[in-house]
Amino acid sequence: MAMTTHDAARRIGELRMQIRHHEHLYYVLDAPGISDAGYDALMNELKKLEAAHPELVTPDSPTQRVGGKPAEGFAKVRHSRPMLSLDNAYSREELADWDRRVRELAGRLPVEYTSELKLDGLSVALHYARAEDGAARLERGVTRGDGQIGEDVTSNIRTIRSIPLTIGSDKLKKAGLPRGFEVRGEAVMPEKAFLHTNEEREREGLPPFVNPRNSAAGTVRTLDSRIVATRGLVFFAYFLLVDGEYLAAGQVATLDALTALGFRVNPHRGRVDSVDNMMHFIEATEKQRDTLGYEIDGVVFKVDAHPTQQRLGYTGRAPRWAIAYKFTAESAITRMEGILITVGRSGKLTPTAVLQPVFVGGVTVSRATLHNSDFIERMGLLVGDWVRVERGGDVIPKVVEVVEDAEHPRGTHKFVWPTHCPDCGSAVVRAEGEADSRCVNAACPAKLRESLLHFGSRGVMNIEGLGEAVVQQLMERGLVHSVADLYSLTEEQLVELERFAEKSARTLLDEIKNSKHAGLARVLMGLSIRFVGERTAELLAQEFGSIDAIMGASAEELSQVEEVGPRVSGAIVEFFSQPANRELVERLRHSGVKMTAEKKQRSTRLAGLTFVLTGTLPNLTRDDAKKRIEEAGGKVSGSVSKKTSFVVAGEEAGSKLDKAHELKVPVIDEAGLLEMLEPSN
Ligand code: IVH
Repeated sequence: MAMTTHDAARRIGELRMQIRHHEHLYYVLDAPGISDAGYDALMNELKKLEAAHPELVTPDSPTQRVGGKPAEGFAKVRHSRPMLSLDNAYSREELADWDRRVRELAGRLPVEYTSELKLDGLSVALHYARAEDGAARLERGVTRGDGQIGEDVTSNIRTIRSIPLTIGSDKLKKAGLPRGFEVRGEAVMPEKAFLHTNEEREREGLPPFVNPRNSAAGTVRTLDSRIVATRGLVFFAYFLLVDGEYLAAGQVATLDALTALGFRVNPHRGRVDSVDNMMHFIEATEKQRDTLGYEIDGVVFKVDAHPTQQRLGYTGRAPRWAIAYKFTAESAITRMEGILITVGRSGKLTPTAVLQPVFVGGVTVSRATLHNSDFIERMGLLVGDWVRVERGGDVIPKVVEVVEDAEHPRGTHKFVWPTHCPDCGSAVVRAEGEADSRCVNAACPAKLRESLLHFGSRGVMNIEGLGEAVVQQLMERGLVHSVADLYSLTEEQLVELERFAEKSARTLLDEIKNSKHAGLARVLMGLSIRFVGERTAELLAQEFGSIDAIMGASAEELSQVEEVGPRVSGAIVEFFSQPANRELVERLRHSGVKMTAEKKQRSTRLAGLTFVLTGTLPNLTRDDAKKRIEEAGGKVSGSVSKKTSFVVAGEEAGSKLDKAHELKVPVIDEAGLLEMLEPSN
């Protein structure tokens, strides 16, 4: 008999609550509270009721995890704050160096670390918004992308069962979450799910994924969310942000809060306070590694306390308050069948070993880097030699030694280093004292090809679709002779290319057009100036604010920039002294490519204020406090006068405090000062 809508609504509510509860037990806590059949029965009842009362279906219902219609593509979303990377350490010594640096920079602020697993998946940001009923709803899931801009993969993310679609207001209240918030973490594919995925792909005649990480990444970017729903992805949460800021007191509190909110937080975690304890955690983890059921490539240590994290801050690409300890590379022996020379965008010739395919560190490897001609020379490498190849995490495989024994006889002949560019045939040049030889032909097609690929790559101008096949054709048809030519391509020209239709042509043109706003730092990287990578480009852009200022700067002026030494400044001056390069800049400008950036603002928060410090502050040393006030534009004076704006008093403050009272100068404590430095709204 059909229920009234009212009864149906009530029953639907009950069922959803029960199902959510069991999903949390099963997918998050790994502790099922009901049989599969029991769960299916609840789900079926809910599905039936929803089918009979479609007006009662809501997007956060457990039935809505099965995925929907295939998407056309993914929209790009700018992250609330960049999704950064981690610096790596590979040895106890490197960890000890990092620990020392952290303690130096932290001054008197507390230093303790959380230890977590480094999950080998892909990082994802989840945006939750408060709904009218006070609960929070999953609004968006975004991939890391290039760290600044990711892709909106919400419909796929919604199918991951360890991600709550809705979080009740009671939980939010307990966690002290006033508004919407963002959770960041890692989506991983468990080994079982990975094997299953590959079996299925094989059945369908598709190439298998090389490892679980690629499989997870490929899955999250699948256009059909119904497929994603079957792939068994798991999400582990590790950060919680409100308005782009960390909320809790520290990382331990963050992980606890995430657990309380119903997220899956990796249970293999701890707290450590010394290098010895870090090493213990590493050893214990290595022992458990094979039994986890999902892949990890190391461990992550994070400074726990947020005030200390803030103090330590960030380099361009990674926080100073965290480090990844990567497990040592795995290796395998295989035969080197030959050596391939490739020409890079700077004309540099790089030798690559062509190997008999071998399985190492979870992937099949058939190429490995040999660095340069000296390396081949030093190893006495012969074509046909058996070699040991090493590979760690996402590191490019390396040949590390020649193997020689009864089963592995030596190769047959020496490799002759080319005297001419394998691509254009011009003579190669090896400068005095340099390890690399280069093709110096400015018109070398290999250089152009590599420059174009670099220009369009992620992290540079981010022109999606400008891959090898397209670049090759553009060059063959004489459509591009420099990166500037990309901006005059037309739809008529592009539709002529193989596998191009109107739509793909327009998409590529849109991507090219959008890249005009990538900003000065990206353009600087895109120009392929020697030694100018992401970090340097970023610093130069912030300091100079425009390409003209950089082109007009002397080596000395350039060297004023943090981390820019004589080698780098020399390369920049040399680059812009070439008329062809200046012309390239003009052409880019003419095409509308933005080549300005916001100059770094010196903070003016405390401008015009004078502070006097007295007594011992609980966390900051006197020097720290002074430095931070000055960085924020304030002044620090040694004695209290009528002109003093504030006296910052700590423990055992002396006569200066009396003087302040006498002159009615406001007195604040350390917390008050920190609040002025960084108001927490
Ligand atoms: S913290 C800003 N914690 O490793 C700090 N990352 O190599 C970066 N990863 O992009 C994130 N497990 O995808 C953090 N417990 C963990 C992690 C983790 C895996 C990944 C993450 C990040 C990459 C950096």
